[in-house]
Amino acid sequence: MITPKPQPPKLRAQRLRDKIAIVTGASRGIGEATVLALAREGAHVALAARTAPDLERIAAEVHLAGREALPVVTDVTEAEQVQNLVNQTLERWKRVDILVANAGLYVRRPVAQVTVEDVEQAMAVNFYGALHVIRAVLPAMLAQRRGHIVLVTSMDGKKGIPPDAPYVAAKFALSGFADVARQELRPAGVHVTTVFPGRVDTAMIADLKVPWISAKIPPQQVAHSIVKALIHPQPEVVVPRLALALIYLNTLSPHLGDWFVRTFRLEGWE
Ligand SMILES: NC(=O)c1ccc[n+]([C@@H]2O[C@H](COP(=O)([O-])OP(=O)(O)OC[C@H]3O[C@@H](n4cnc5c(N)ncnc54)[C@H](OP(=O)(O)O)[C@@H]3O)[C@@H](O)[C@H]2O)c1
Repeated sequence: MITPKPQPPKLRAQRLRDKIAIVTGASRGIGEATVLALAREGAHVALAARTAPDLERIAAEVHLAGREALPVVTDVTEAEQVQNLVNQTLERWKRVDILVANAGLYVRRPVAQVTVEDVEQAMAVNFYGALHVIRAVLPAMLAQRRGHIVLVTSMDGKKGIPPDAPYVAAKFALSGFADVARQELRPAGVHVTTVFPGRVDTAMIADLKVPWISAKIPPQQVAHSIVKALIHPQPEVVVPRLALALIYLNTLSPHLGDWFVRTFRLEGWE
């Protein structure tokens, strides 16, 4: 009888091997999961957020995965800090292949009580924070004639859920910007993907209870979708797929969309 020779375990191919990525909002939640997923796929990652110890901890995990990490404390609302992040990335690796603009802030307030400051605060992080980093990486990506920008918006950037008006306004603004950027930048070799997560189990909505139909998904599921979209570029990604039901219904008729939100209490409760 012939005994088969023991085979070495198969190494999974790293599909983003040696790509250079920048991830904002990298200190926890979806950003953290995305950094680690990118490193597992072979990318080197510049991590940006305001909380230095968290960035250091996650950078150490990237090193453990055998990849390089560059933690850069950055407030995305400050254009100069964002420029410094991109400059440091370019100094270290000479190029930038991937940007995941993920930093976000959830601002909820019923419309009757909303203040201009609420909207400004939501816009500063969710919209201008993404705009600053897109503007900072674009010259390098255009010069390379290659790059992929992933913008993490929200299902709240497809269908407004009460009482999220300030957040919804910022996420719709970002989704609209992305829609144009994708079409304009494609001929120059730069892909743009917009990611629309539903409810995700992170610190952002830790105190919010949600109905079964919009059950919180793990941040790793969003990170997996982001990596998939980087490998096979797609214009838009909705995660989980079930959320497409609300988009289709609302496109058919906003009456139906509103009814769906009301009936299933998609706004959640404390
Ligand atoms: N959780 C959800 O249900 C959900 C659903 C749809 C979309 N999203 C979107 O997904 C993205 C990630 O959210 P998450 O759920 O992972 O939330 P999270 O756990 O609260 O993480 C938010 C991240 O953004 C960073 N951040 C916030 N303000 C910043 C600023 N001014 N400058 C730099 N970084 C800043 C935070 O880091 P520091 O505090 O250390 O700066 C943190 O790393 C956001 O854009 C969010 O809107 C979340």
